[in-house]
Amino acid sequence: MSGGIWYRVKRGLPALVVALAAMVVLVAAGATGARAGDVPVPEPAKGAGEACVADTAFMRRYHMQMLVHQRRDTVHEGIRTEQFSLKGCIECHQVKGEDGAAVKVSDSRHFCRSCHDYAAVSIDCFECHASVPEEAGKSAAAAEPENEAVAALGAYVHGKTTGEGAAK
Ligand code: HEC
Ligand code: HEC
Ligand code: HEC
Repeated sequence: MSGGIWYRVKRGLPALVVALAAMVVLVAAGATGARAGDVPVPEPAKGAGEACVADTAFMRRYHMQMLVHQRRDTVHEGIRTEQFSLKGCIECHQVKGEDGAAVKVSDSRHFCRSCHDYAAVSIDCFECHASVPEEAGKSAAAAEPENEAVAALGAYVHGKTTGEGAAK
């Protein structure tokens, strides 16, 4: 009978309305960005180019693992794929200060700090790696890739300071 289908549609309607309302709220939250209800959320500066080195949502969640893998592959196994290069992150995600130059990690506007400060995450990477592009002299990763001594140093410091055990 024809009554059956309408009965089911009517029953389904409240759930549909709830789902649509939830979508509207989510879209509105995305558009205004900075707040989820009354709680401020981090607002990292937009990266350069069309896209990140992997899906943005994936990067948001898993960049730490990717960096650790990249580091292990490069430093310990000599594999030099560039996908998750730390230098690459710094290049595309530079944030310009008043003087037009990229801000260092000492500045709270630095891309990596935009979330880390918020989440109380602290990383020691920039004690060795440059936090701004093209600061070759200060960059651990800017050293000659072919240089075995540098690779050995990399393996040593990563083994010691951050521990391969950290590479979950
Ligand atoms: C070719 C340029 C480019 C490179 C290289 C790059 N990114 Fe991105 N990244 C982007 C773009 C574009 C987006 C998406 C737009 C946005 O929200 O910033 C993005 C988004 C992100 C986000 C999400 C930001 C948010 O709004 O939540 C994170 C986290 C991130 N990238 C981390 C990294 C890390 C870590 C590296 C190095 C392994 C890296 N990116 C390398 C361009 C780049
Ligand atoms: C979209 C927000 C966001 C951005 C932007 C971001 N991070 Fe993170 N990062 C986090 C969060 C949140 C954690 C902690 C995740 C956890 O504990 O599971 C984290 C953790 C890390 C860790 C692991 C720290 C530890 O001790 O476990 C590393 C390494 C790291 N981020 C590197 C970077 C670098 C390098 C950049 C800049 C290129 C960056 N992140 C930008 C959100 C972000
Ligand atoms: C004590 C100094 C030191 C610290 C601290 C350090 N690194 Fe490194 N890192 C090096 C050296 C040296 C190399 C080897 C350089 C090379 O082979 O290009 C290296 C290489 C790398 C590489 C491979 C090259 C590249 O640019 O992609 C990645 C990725 C990396 N480090 C990520 C990290 C991350 C993430 C942290 C923080 C959690 C970190 N490093 C902390 C010294 C350091």
